[in-house]
Amino acid sequence: MHDYKNAPLGIFDSGVGGLTVVKEILNRLPCESFVYLGDTGRYPYGPRSADIVRKFALQNARFLMGFGIKVLIVACNTASSVALDELRKWISIPIMGVIEPGAREAVKSTENGRIGIIGTVGTISSKSYQNAISAIEPAIDVFGKACPLFVPLAEEGWLDGEIPELVAHFYLDELLQKDIDTLVLGCTHYPLLKRTITKVIGGKIRVIDSAKSLIGELKKYLTDEKITSNNDDLYARFFVTDAPQRFSRIGTKFLEKKLEKIELIQIEL
Ligand code: DGL
Repeated sequence: MHDYKNAPLGIFDSGVGGLTVVKEILNRLPCESFVYLGDTGRYPYGPRSADIVRKFALQNARFLMGFGIKVLIVACNTASSVALDELRKWISIPIMGVIEPGAREAVKSTENGRIGIIGTVGTISSKSYQNAISAIEPAIDVFGKACPLFVPLAEEGWLDGEIPELVAHFYLDELLQKDIDTLVLGCTHYPLLKRTITKVIGGKIRVIDSAKSLIGELKKYLTDEKITSNNDDLYARFFVTDAPQRFSRIGTKFLEKKLEKIELIQIEL
């Protein structure tokens, strides 16, 4: 019989960014095994059309299903924005994305009913966060802003100083004029830039990290369903679709932990 409790979690992202979700798993669910797929060969997803992101997401999910995973976690905000309905048509295990947990936490956080969302072009143009927030509380005003340059800055490790601050002002000044009291980091890479973002927006605006919101909800789900792992024989496997060494180098910065073995796979069927 399939040992469901001790089955691994399956996580995918367009590349290295989803390691911000893995970091939360290691912190808050250290007794879970997991299999991670970074689709580095087709990264980035942010500027691509929703149709192609849906196709990639389904291929990634099918690959992870081969490991008998107990929950599928879509760490990528862009894929979570456009592909969850499609994934649910084909895959019968529980699927969790980052949008709804982030939206729920933002709704709890706001006092003046004005929330800012930052993410990739794909995430912002999908209006996924807006839709999720207005499904909970239609009276809340949501202001989205795509911040595409944050992704390469995070990957280059360019997290503080004049250039990141200038870029942050360029994107965020407009949101500040909207009198928001809550800002959602709607992209895997943005938590790395949190110091700079907070410096630019000031200490009064609450910053929501949707990776953290997701793992909070996942932990509750595993506990409620009584499917937390009780196995000592834990494992973590990392797969990529291109350039494992680059993944390992940049991933070590994202995870703040050395990434040892990265396995290269081919995913186009
Ligand atoms: N992982 C993507 C996201 O969270 C950012 C990188 C990309 O564009 O693929 O939206």
